[in-house]
Amino acid sequence: MASELARILELAQAQLPDPAGWSLVVDPSWLDRLYFGPGVSRMAQALPTGELGGSAAVSLDGSGDGGVITVTSMLRPGFEDLWTTQRAWIERQIADGGSTIRVRVVSECLTDGETGRWAAAGFDLVLEELALERDLSDTEGSPEVRWPAGSTVLDWSDSAAAASFEVCEAAFRDRPGFPGWSRSEWLERLTGDADFVPETSVCALLDGVPAGFVICSRGWVDQVGVAPAHRRIGLATALVTEATCRMRAAGTRVARLHVNVNNPEARTTWRHLGWRESGRRGRFERLGTPKVDCTV
Ligand SMILES: CC(C)(COP(=O)(O)OP(=O)(O)OC[C@H]1O[C@@H](n2cnc3c(N)ncnc32)[C@H](O)[C@@H]1OP(=O)(O)O)[C@@H](O)C(=O)NCCC(=O)NCCS
Repeated sequence: MASELARILELAQAQLPDPAGWSLVVDPSWLDRLYFGPGVSRMAQALPTGELGGSAAVSLDGSGDGGVITVTSMLRPGFEDLWTTQRAWIERQIADGGSTIRVRVVSECLTDGETGRWAAAGFDLVLEELALERDLSDTEGSPEVRWPAGSTVLDWSDSAAAASFEVCEAAFRDRPGFPGWSRSEWLERLTGDADFVPETSVCALLDGVPAGFVICSRGWVDQVGVAPAHRRIGLATALVTEATCRMRAAGTRVARLHVNVNNPEARTTWRHLGWRESGRRGRFERLGTPKVDCTV
């Protein structure tokens, strides 16, 4: 299996549009989970050279209306004609789940070509995000954090978490797809696993009122929010700079984050802070029965 994983990893690297870019798809533990996890079926398309031209994996969680089939797929650039066979294999796996099961495609290395392929197979693009990264190794460029007047910075604690949740609700309420989680659900999702790093996560009060927060996990900025009443005064700039300075001090060389393509304010903020685009990711969904006939 180790060599099979190595061949899939080589394919993942070959399909990155920017060879210097980065995406979860070249993270061996991500590939291992998606392609070799429990209950996963996978197919591989070998080329005469022995390298892989394509590979796909399908897994089923749950059953009936509550069930979800997860699909992921890769094609080596220049070998897109392998899609016909690959898609026929994927459709056969999906058909076993029945006509009402939700099918979710996970792409951590999205290209226009892949978007077109899933659209032609009757899938809707339900999420599109950019992967951004910030080089933290340039210690000379380590900026000074400039907090807006009246700021108090809280290190992570129960009270910082409570204040951050208040800000989160105000900051994200108007974003499309706002999930409306309770405080405990939100805390569990963002701070509930071993990757959460409380030392690089902070909350800011302005004149004593919760105004902004940043939550980080190992090597990642997971969530940043500033309450609408306190925007455009440099609070996100200060929060993110504080977090990345703390990450750098802890030895992190590169920080990463995902931002939705439909969030121009956040994208401008990240550009302003020197983050660069390293890739795209997407999620597509369809009910089991294809909207378009699959004639292969
Ligand atoms: C994105 C967000 C965190 C920015 O917070 P902020 O405190 O207003 O950001 P800053 O004041 O530090 O602004 C930094 C720079 O980003 C840019 N920027 C921020 N908001 C902008 C907007 N609405 N329009 C245009 N540019 C904007 C500007 O270049 C700004 O610098 P400038 O004011 O000196 O020109 C805030 O709008 C927010 O909470 N949005 C909702 C939640 C969210 O999308 N979080 C990020 C998810 S990845």
